[in-house]
Amino acid sequence: MSTAGRLAGKVALITGAASGIGKATAELFRREGAQLILSDLNGPGVEAVAAALGNSSLGLQHDVTDEAAWERVMAAGKGAFGRLDIVVNNAGVGRGSPLLETSLAQWRDVIAANLDSVFLGCRFGVAAMKETGGSIVNISSILGIVGTPFALAYSASKGGVRLLTKSVALECAQSGWRIRVNSVHPGYIDTPMVQASIANSPAPDDRKKHLLAQHPIGRLGQASEIAEGILYLASDASSFVTGTELVVDGGYTAR
Ligand code: NAI
Repeated sequence: MSTAGRLAGKVALITGAASGIGKATAELFRREGAQLILSDLNGPGVEAVAAALGNSSLGLQHDVTDEAAWERVMAAGKGAFGRLDIVVNNAGVGRGSPLLETSLAQWRDVIAANLDSVFLGCRFGVAAMKETGGSIVNISSILGIVGTPFALAYSASKGGVRLLTKSVALECAQSGWRIRVNSVHPGYIDTPMVQASIANSPAPDDRKKHLLAQHPIGRLGQASEIAEGILYLASDASSFVTGTELVVDGGYTAR
């Protein structure tokens, strides 16, 4: 076990760790001394990320919408490391569609991947950490704070994550469990999710220009810049912070 770094001695579970923000967070947490349980729907992808980070990291195939899969992941993590200090509920999907073309099944898929998943992550995380304390970081979005056209299920799911976070934070505090719970709200970040949404739009160059113009800083964010915010909330540096929302968006929501 590492004794140096801002997460020395801590064990963190990060969902959606095969790609983008989850992968960047895993890399940063490892550099800061954490032992890692990394999970993702993409089993081979997350196993490769864990293998590259060395033997303090466990990679597990995990569908975050599946309650029984959560039980298996928590048991495997406990078996490997014996404790849990941090849960980062990051896995999610970025699908958008116009209201009149969104079926109930499509709506439910997005809500399951982005909101049911965070509910399960909070429930299993609190159950595992209520005696020992810890930190839960839920990845919402700027679209959990402000609306956007053609992404109604996504916005609803991320708005749900924002208030789920505050409710669980208050319940933990009132119950005397030393678990802090906070949300992170990224602007558009240059990850495979956003790259795919630009590439699949009818006019990719125009779409990219439009997205850049929404960020006063004049560029998209990098996954590593979101990982730094997640690290702050996960670490003891934020020991008096709970129920809050950390916006990391290049100024998107400032106007
Ligand atoms: P990404 O697509 O690069 O990575 C998401 C990961 O989640 C993938 O590895 C995918 O396999 C995994 N995943 C998807 N559904 C899953 C499921 N049911 N069970 C387990 N794993 C699953 O996306 P990115 O950009 O890294 O997004 C990470 C989180 O950040 C998501 O919750 C996303 O909504 C959020 N976010 C991303 C923004 C962006 O601009 N990239 C902006 C705001 C929020």
